[in-house]
Amino acid sequence: MIFKGIRGETVQDINFCFQNRNYVVVGASSGIGKQITLDLAESGANVLAIARNNERLDDVRLLYPDKITTAVINVLCARDNDWRGVLDPFVTKYGKINGGIYTAGISKIASLKMLDEEDARDVVETSFWGMLFFLKFITRKKYSCVGSSFVVFSSAASYIGQKGGIAYAAAKAAVSNAVKSIASEIAANKQRINSISPGWVKTNMTELAEQESGGIVSSDLESAYPLGLGVPKNISGMALFLMSDAASWITGSDVVIDGGFLVGRF
Ligand SMILES: NC(=O)c1ccc[n+]([C@@H]2O[C@H](COP(=O)([O-])OP(=O)(O)OC[C@H]3O[C@@H](n4cnc5c(N)ncnc54)[C@H](OP(=O)(O)O)[C@@H]3O)[C@@H](O)[C@H]2O)c1
Repeated sequence: MIFKGIRGETVQDINFCFQNRNYVVVGASSGIGKQITLDLAESGANVLAIARNNERLDDVRLLYPDKITTAVINVLCARDNDWRGVLDPFVTKYGKINGGIYTAGISKIASLKMLDEEDARDVVETSFWGMLFFLKFITRKKYSCVGSSFVVFSSAASYIGQKGGIAYAAAKAAVSNAVKSIASEIAANKQRINSISPGWVKTNMTELAEQESGGIVSSDLESAYPLGLGVPKNISGMALFLMSDAASWITGSDVVIDGGFLVGRF
């Protein structure tokens, strides 16, 4: 968007220039990760877009075919060899990575009484363990530049819990807590890591959560959000900011973006 500044000069909305920079987005086939992938590509970055669904990944790639490369990985079972298999070709072609964004996550709404162990483990493994294995690998000097920035996804639910979201809220609290320890370790390479905690953003995940919840997700959800429910574009700008040099002194932090949902709750 272009508008006039106080001296009448033309001012543009904040834009980032990521020309000649390389990023990896895990969870790029949908929702917030897809938006971040597209915004990075629009800003000139080369992006390795990762998820399980190849068809949806390809739809993303086709929007910026010169900028987006795709790879299929299931973070529930991905280990060093799998990460090596997708990162090696990307780094060989484009050079070392300037940052990584981990958005993979699933939500299985279930009350304590109805808790299914396998589902609960999948929730924790997708958001937390998958993130750790990804970071363990990608932060290596072989793959990432000095000064790289990483962004991972927690949730507003990590602050106050969520009815029916025991495993999910616990996994997200683990994510934002782990960020602090990781930040202090990777600072030795001038690398940074931060988490983002969104409130309710309209994506495939929240649509599914609403359908599966059988009423656990409250019908007056919207009234809990003073600024209304979110869309992926409300989140992606912060991810790009945290990737950028403007955020070079920010690490180990969690940024809440929730349309006012948490205001006054604790
Ligand atoms: N939307 C919200 O209201 C909200 C609120 C707070 C936090 N968050 C967090 O924000 C992140 C993004 O959520 P979203 O709403 O954008 O969800 P989404 O639209 O469902 O996207 C999730 C992404 O994760 C990928 N993914 C899931 N399981 C995977 C696996 N095992 N291996 C590899 N990729 C996997 C999915 O791709 P495939 O299915 O193709 O694998 C998809 O690209 C999540 O961590 C979520 O917990 C979201």
